[in-house]
Order: sequence, then C-alpha cells, then structure tokens
Amino acid sequence: MPAIVLVGAQWGDEGKGKATDLLGSRVDAVVKFNGGNNAGHTIVIRDGGRSEKFALHLLPSGILTPGCVPVIGNGVVIDLGVLFEEIDGLRARGVDTSALVVSGSAHVIAPYNRTLDKVTERFLGSRRIGTTGRGIGPTYADKMSRIGIRVQDLFDEDVLRAKVSGALNVKNQILVKIYNRKAFDVEAVVAELRGYAERLAPMVADTSLLLERMLSGGKTVVLEAGQATLLDVDHGTYPFVTSSNATAGGACTGSGIPPMRISSVIAVVKAYTTRVGEGPFPTELLHEKGELLRLAGAEFGTTTGRPRRCGWFDAVVARYATRINGVTDFVLTKLDVLTGMGEVPVCVAYEVDGVRHDELPTNQADFARATPIYETFPGWSEDISAARSLDDLPRNARDYVLALQGMIGAPISAVGVGPGRDETIAVRDLLR
Ligand code: GDP
Ligand code: IMO
Ligand code: MG
Repeated sequence: MPAIVLVGAQWGDEGKGKATDLLGSRVDAVVKFNGGNNAGHTIVIRDGGRSEKFALHLLPSGILTPGCVPVIGNGVVIDLGVLFEEIDGLRARGVDTSALVVSGSAHVIAPYNRTLDKVTERFLGSRRIGTTGRGIGPTYADKMSRIGIRVQDLFDEDVLRAKVSGALNVKNQILVKIYNRKAFDVEAVVAELRGYAERLAPMVADTSLLLERMLSGGKTVVLEAGQATLLDVDHGTYPFVTSSNATAGGACTGSGIPPMRISSVIAVVKAYTTRVGEGPFPTELLHEKGELLRLAGAEFGTTTGRPRRCGWFDAVVARYATRINGVTDFVLTKLDVLTGMGEVPVCVAYEVDGVRHDELPTNQADFARATPIYETFPGWSEDISAARSLDDLPRNARDYVLALQGMIGAPISAVGVGPGRDETIAVRDLLR
C-alpha cells in the first residue's frame, strides 16, 4: 500500500495541518520528516456545535486521529522541552499520545543552538533571515558538520558528554569571542538533555524499519512536510529559506522510506500567498489590500505570532511546486478568505528587466527583481463556507478555482472553504 507525501506549495502556512487531518482515519501512520518546532499547524475540529482548535509544532498532525501512529522521523530536529510540553498539553485535553514513535537518529536541538540562532540573526542585522529563533539552522548545520547530538546519544551519558563537549569546544569560542555571550557549561547541558532520557526511551524506535513493515503489511502512510517548497534549503528562495528539505525528495531521506514506495504527492496551496520572515515575494501587497487579506485570513504566525506578509496567488510558484515535487493533487485552501475582495488578480508570469518569465527564475537577483504579470478575475461576495461541491460555489468562485487548476499543472482535488475539518469541498478522493 502507498506512502503519500503531503507538502506545502508556497512559503508555508498553506493549511498542511488541516489537509493531513482531513485524510483522517484511513491513514495508519503520519510521519513528520523535516523541520522542528519552527512549524505551526492549526487544526480545528468541530464536534456538533463545539469547536476545538489545536496548534501543533513538533508533533505530526496524525496525533489527533485515533488509531493513527504518529512518527517523528530521522529528518526532524527535536527540542525535547517543546516535545514534552506539547505532549502534556494534548494529554490535558484528553488526546491519547501513547502511540508516538520517535527516530533514534533524529537530531536534538541543544540549548546552545537556540542561543546561536538568535544571536546570529541579531548579528546579521538588515541581512537577517527572520528565523523563528528555535535553533533550527544551527542544529542542521551541526548535523552536516557531524557534531550534532542525536536522540540515541541521550541514553549513554559518556557518549553524550563527549559529543556535547566536542561541540562546545568550538561553539563556546564563537559565543564568547564573537558574540560576547556567556559560555555554556558542558555538565549543565548534559544534565538538561539527560533529564529527558527516561521519559523519551519508550518512544524511540527504528522508524524506517517500522514504516517499511507497515507499508509491506498494506498500511497507508502519510509523510507530512513542515515548511514548504519555497522554504526548501535546495529548491527555495535561498538564503531566505529554512535549513531542511521540505519538498517531496526530503520525505524519503527524512523518513527512510524508499522513493518507489511513494504513490502520490499532495501539495497544499492557499488561494492567495503568504510569507513569514524576510526574502523576495513578487506578489506581496504592502498596503491596505495586504492588510485586508491578513485580517480576513487571520494571517498571524502559529509559532511566533508575527503578522504574515500577504499577496495574490502566484501561479508561477505553484507550477514550480508541481515540477519540484511531482504533485499529483492540489488541496486549495482558504478560498473563503477571498470572498468580498472584489476583483482577484493572479500572477501568471513575471517580468524581469523587460523579459517575460513563465518559469521561476533560478537566479536569486532576478527573482528579487521580478514583477508580476497579472490576469484579473471577477470576484464574488456570497458566503461559500457551506459549499460541499464545486457546483455549490458561486460561478465566479468556481471559475477562479478552475482557472487556477488550468495554470498549475495538476488537478485540484479538494478546496477549503473554512478552517473546520468539515469545511471542505471534496472533488476527488485523495486516498484513491
Ligand atoms: P500549516 O502550517 O500549513 O499547517 O498552516 P497553518 O496552520 O500555519 O495556517 C493555516 C491557517 O488557516 C490555520 O489557522 C487553519 O486553521 C486555517 N485554514 C486552513 N484551511 C482553511 C480554509 O480553507 N479556510 C480558512 N478560512 N481557514 C483555513
Ligand atoms: P509551517 O510548517 C512559515 C520561515 C521563517 C524564516 C525561515 C527560516 O507552519 O508551514 P527557521 O526558523 O526555519 O530557520 O526560519 O523560514 N519558516 C516558516 N514560515 N511557516 C513555517 O512552517 C515556517 N518554518 C520556518 O519565518 O523566514
Ligand atoms: Mg504553519
């Protein structure tokens, strides 16, 4: 049975959490394969008249589906304090988190890397990335430099001490001599990390083997990305990206599932565009219209609370996501937010120094200078939140959806018309 990859098509916050949750009880495992608690996925569950909102940072969205095995894969970086806070928060709300499995090869965010993330950003000044300050970049840098701390290291105090001490040999020099900060004490870091070991131990497993056995046994596995295509360290708007592979290729390396197992790639795309942090954003709306979208879409970060930058839909970005990820299905979210906006422009291509670009320019400077070429669609003012089929939509809204589908290179299989699980138009089965 299949492994299904679910990615973000833009700069994040497309509604991946809701989309994963939508796949529901037919999914046997949901694997987080990249990123860490830089992610923020909001899921709204309505039970009768009651509406419950969950914000997940480190845990896979499958944690909210009874019977689904939530897996934190080897490609993730884990802040253990946040992990247990999140588990305790869910337990207090009656969610059973006992099925959670964590890869022993996932890297741990050490306290010095949280500090380094923040001080590096401050040092960069106007050249900062606008990171979430969670220690993500320095932890992935340690992984690549082979001085990282892995989950499995926590269970042998001598090994852990040797690794922390090795990493701090260099990092304390940088913290003290370059950034004028206090040095970290090896024993204090070892004690902090060891403090999590006993509680973590029963959750740790060979997650690659577990997933292979599930797939061989006919189970359905969803590989859920944090961040999104244009934040991918290789394929995004570098250097204004996160430090992991958030695209479909990362699903294999970050989980230990071979490419041949993947049967479909679902990309979640918003009916307009948002971005948090610095970096180029051709369709960004800087004035009242941007503010209008921000308020209508409640576009404030789930993780840092920062206002998200807002702009019109960018079909060039979506087409690029289709190519890089091999998208088989799109989930178009937040169509309801465009209700009452008047005419809706869509960026169909860019102009760079008088030259038309139908594909994303790979040169960073070209992309930073790209100005959108818009096609404008008539808007609608009817409330669409009760629509459950494309035919329920007002004509202009339906035409907008079909026009986007024609531009982005893969079918739109579901459309979000509100934050709730049920507020969705199912066009074709995502788990066919
Ligand atoms: P993620 O990081 O991709 O999981 O997305 P976030 O959770 O950070 O941001 C998406 C926000 O949009 C959340 O607050 C969701 O509850 C909300 N959302 C998702 N789909 C829809 C939709 O179709 N309509 C509306 N109005 N809100 C949605
Ligand atoms: P989800 O999973 C939106 C952005 C940060 C910053 C850049 C690098 O909710 O879509 P980092 O802390 O990762 O080193 O920051 O990436 N960023 C996100 N933006 N949604 C996210 O996650 C993000 N995770 C990181 O704002 O610009
Ligand atoms: Mg988010």
